[in-house]
Formats: sequence, structure tokens, C-alpha cells
Amino acid sequence: MKKSLVIGANGQIGSDLVLGLANRLGQENLIASDVREGNHGEVHFELLDILDADRLKQVIEKHNVGTVYLLAALLSATAEQKPMFAWKLNMEGLFNVLELAKEGTIEKIFWPSSIAVFGPTTPRDNTPQTTVMEPTTVYGISKLAGERWCEYFWNKFGVDVRSIRYPGLISYKAEPGGGTTDYAVDIYYKALQQGKYECYLEDNTYLPMMYMEDAIKATIDLMHTDKEKIKIRSSYNLAGISFSPVEIAKEIQKHIPDFTISYAPDFRLAIANSWPKSINDTRAQEDWGWKNSYELDSMTEEMLKGLKEKLG
Ligand code: NAD
Ligand code: SER
Repeated sequence: MKKSLVIGANGQIGSDLVLGLANRLGQENLIASDVREGNHGEVHFELLDILDADRLKQVIEKHNVGTVYLLAALLSATAEQKPMFAWKLNMEGLFNVLELAKEGTIEKIFWPSSIAVFGPTTPRDNTPQTTVMEPTTVYGISKLAGERWCEYFWNKFGVDVRSIRYPGLISYKAEPGGGTTDYAVDIYYKALQQGKYECYLEDNTYLPMMYMEDAIKATIDLMHTDKEKIKIRSSYNLAGISFSPVEIAKEIQKHIPDFTISYAPDFRLAIANSWPKSINDTRAQEDWGWKNSYELDSMTEEMLKGLKEKLG
């Protein structure tokens, strides 16, 4: 059996995806890698910079890797601070992996896109799979370009690349890495540690979000669906839960009645306001049977329980 390689394994998604894949495939069939040192228990770890194409090929050949999960990227808020580096990392990293699939060194790729591919001219409610896409962030531009390249490599060279437009992801194992949706993780930490939270968005800023367990399930399901059923080779819309800061705060108050939230919007508000409020994921439901499990209440219970244990 060929192995799977997770690149960017130490990040918010990678930390959970490595666990999910180890359960599904067996830890001996998985390699975790990152540009930073990491510890993934019994799963073998390799230090790897995705921008180093020679080292990438070396790791893949050394471990007989057939499937790559490429998670290394700069997210929306950080990308606005380092636009040229974000473009380089987000695009060159993808090309390095696509090229290896084109030449037959690997067989299958997972590469995540984002709700950031949409922009202010996109219909914001129940955003369809196919619609106006004019992103206004460096991150969104890189993700939209990445989607086009994925589809191109599938059409031209038959590269089996699969992708999801993740909403904002909420989890407690690893902290998020510089996105606009990070507030919806940070708010749980601050609720437990300080009993209050100052939010960089406005009270009624709605964004599409998802609990990590659902996102990992979607990713593994998509990657284990028969090839013929994957009809979209750019990236699938995926919906979880949509809520605003005031709504998540009210949910937290059910568990921590004295919790308070205040607002001090910064540059991330403009990013959030350019993205959809909710997503239509009918195509993912039809093509590979996607259905989310977590709602705001069940996610909040899990987040507070998981973080209490983590923070002691
Ligand atoms: P993250 O920032 O938490 O993790 C990224 C990981 O990549 C980090 O561990 C980092 O050390 C590593 N990395 C950075 N540069 C690297 C390099 N040159 N070589 C190898 N590794 C490198 O990000 P995440 O939230 O886990 O996101 C993973 C992917 O999912 C990204 O493509 C992101 O755009 C996408 N995504 C995430 C979300 C979300 O809410 N977390 C939503 C939509 C899409
Ligand atoms: N969570 C991500 C971000 O805010 C969305 O892709 O950047």
C-alpha cells in the first residue's frame, strides 16, 4: 500500500487530519511533514519545506508516497501582511505537488481552497457552487488561481486532484494560523481564561464556519470517493454552520453566564465583509454524500470541554 503524506501537518487542520488519517489508514501508512519541527506520536515525521521541490520528491520516493495532502499556505490575514510571499508559497507549493502527479510520481492530491475565493460581487447568502468570483484579498486570489490550475491539471493531464472550499474551521487541538475566521476559536480560549473577549469583527458579521471534526470527515470522505463520482475538479463548496460573533457569544453564555464580548473592528472586518454569509453545498451532497453533523450548540459544548482539558 502506498503511503499518504500530509504537508503542513503541524497547523490547525494538519494536527487533526493526521489523527483522522492515522485512524483510517493506520499510522504506519502515513507521513507527517512541516517546515517546523513537529511531534505526531507514532506517525513518522519529516522536516520539509514545500518550496524545496527536490526535497519534496526525495521524501515522496523514500516513503513510497501515493497521496499528498497539501496544507502549507499563508492564510487570509497573514497574507495581507506578506502579499508577495503568500503568493509564492500558496502557488509554488501547489505547482510542486501538481508537477509530481503529472509525471506520475504520486497518484492523488488533496489541496484545500476556501470561501475566500468569493468576493464582494458574489451573492452572499446561500452562495452557489458556480457564481461570480472576484476575490479582493491576496489569499482569495491565490486560492481562486489554485482552483483553476487544479482543474487545468485534471483536464489536461488527468491529475487526480480533489479540493474543498473550507469555511472557517473551529478546533481546539492546534491554534489557527492567521485567518480572518480565527476569532471563532480565540473566543473560546478567552471565555475560559479571562471571561471576556474583544472581537475584531462587528456583532452581526456572519461567516460560514465548520467544526473541525466535520471538516476532517469531509476531507477523508472526498479522498476515498470513487474517482468517477468526483465531478468538480476545481473545488467543492462545503457548508457547516453560519453565525455572527453575537450569536457565538450567546451560546458561550449558556455555559459561562458572566462571559462578555466587546468589539474593536480592524482590517479583518473588510475581509470578512467581502466573503459569503452562508454556502450552498448541494453538489458535495449529491456527488459524494456530504452532510455536516455539528451545529453551534454541539460545537460549543465540544470546544469548551476539549479546551478545559487542554488548558487544565
Ligand atoms: P495553519 O497556518 O494552521 O497551518 C499551516 C502549516 O503549514 C503550519 O504548520 C506551517 O508551519 C506549515 N508551513 C508553512 N510554510 C510551509 C512550508 N514552506 N513548507 C511546509 N510547511 C509549511 O493553516 P491551516 O488552518 O491548517 O490551513 C491549512 C490549509 O487549509 C491552507 O491551505 C488554508 O488556506 C486552508 N484553509 C484553512 C481554513 C481554516 O479555517 N483553517 C479555511 C479554509 C482553507
Ligand atoms: N479560515 C480561513 C481564513 O480566515 C478561510 O480560508 O483565512
